[in-house]
Amino acid sequence: MSVFVVLLGAPGAGKGTQAQRLAARTGLPHISSGDIFRENLKNQTELGKLAQQYMSKGELVPDDVTIAMIRERLSRPDCARGAFLDGFPRTPVQAQALDDMLAELGGRVAVVPFIEVPEEELVERLSGRLICRAQGHIFHKKYRPPKVPGVCDYDGSELYQREDDRPEVVRRRIRVYLEQTMPLVEYYRQRGLLVDIDGTRSVDEVTEALWAVLPDEVKQA
Ligand code: AP5
Repeated sequence: MSVFVVLLGAPGAGKGTQAQRLAARTGLPHISSGDIFRENLKNQTELGKLAQQYMSKGELVPDDVTIAMIRERLSRPDCARGAFLDGFPRTPVQAQALDDMLAELGGRVAVVPFIEVPEEELVERLSGRLICRAQGHIFHKKYRPPKVPGVCDYDGSELYQREDDRPEVVRRRIRVYLEQTMPLVEYYRQRGLLVDIDGTRSVDEVTEALWAVLPDEVKQA
C-alpha cells in the first residue's frame, strides 16, 4: 500500500522547504500543488492562466480544478510508493477527495504534520523568500541566503521573488488559510493522524522533528 504524508501549515510555515528535504532523504516524490500551478503558468497552459487569476489575489483555485489536477498527478508511476503532499489538500472538500482517490489507488494518508509558526514570522519569511527558476529550490534573504546573491546553490539558475509574496497578497493568503484550511487540523486530528510540529526552530531542527514522527513505512517506502 502506498503511503502519503500531508504537510499542513500556513503560507510560509516551511512546508516546501521541509518537503524538499524529506523527499530527498526518502526518495518519495514531493508534490506541491502551488508548484504545479506555477509550472502551468510558465508554460501558458489554460490551467495555468486560470489558476493565475486566483493566485495573484491570494485566493484558492476552485476545488474541482485542483482535485482533477492532483488526481492526474497521483496516478503517475512515481507515486506508486507514496509521496509528500505540500499545499494539498487545502479545504475539507479536497481532504475528502484525497481520501477517495487514495482508496481507489490503494494508498492512505500515514501522518499529517502540522507545522505551526506565528503570523508575524510568516510575513517576514515570505517577504524575504527567494525561489530558483529552474527547480524551485527555496532560499531566504536573511535565514537561508544563497552563497552567491541571486544565484541558486544547487543548479546555478536565477533566484526570483514570487508575485504572491507581496505583503498585501500575503495577508490575504493568511486570511484564506485561517478560514478555509484550518478546519483540516480538526479533520485530521479526529482521525488520529495529526502531529503538531513547532516550526519556529531552525530549518535543520524542524527537519529532525519531522523525521522523528514519520512512520517507518514512510522512511522505508
Ligand atoms: P503554495 O505555493 O502552496 O503556497 P503556500 O501554501 O501559500 O505556501 P508557501 O509556498 O508560500 O509556503 P511554505 O510553507 O511552502 O514555505 P517555504 O518552505 O517556502 O500556493 C500558492 C497559491 O496556489 C495559493 O495561494 C492558491 O492560490 C494556489 N493553490 C495551491 N494549492 C492549492 C490548493 N490545494 N487549492 C486551491 N488553490 C491552491 O518557506 C517560506 C520561507 O521561509 C522561505 O524563504 C524559507 O527559506 C524560509 N524558512 C522555511 N523554514 C524556515 C525556518 N525554520 N526558519 C527560518 N526560515 C525558514
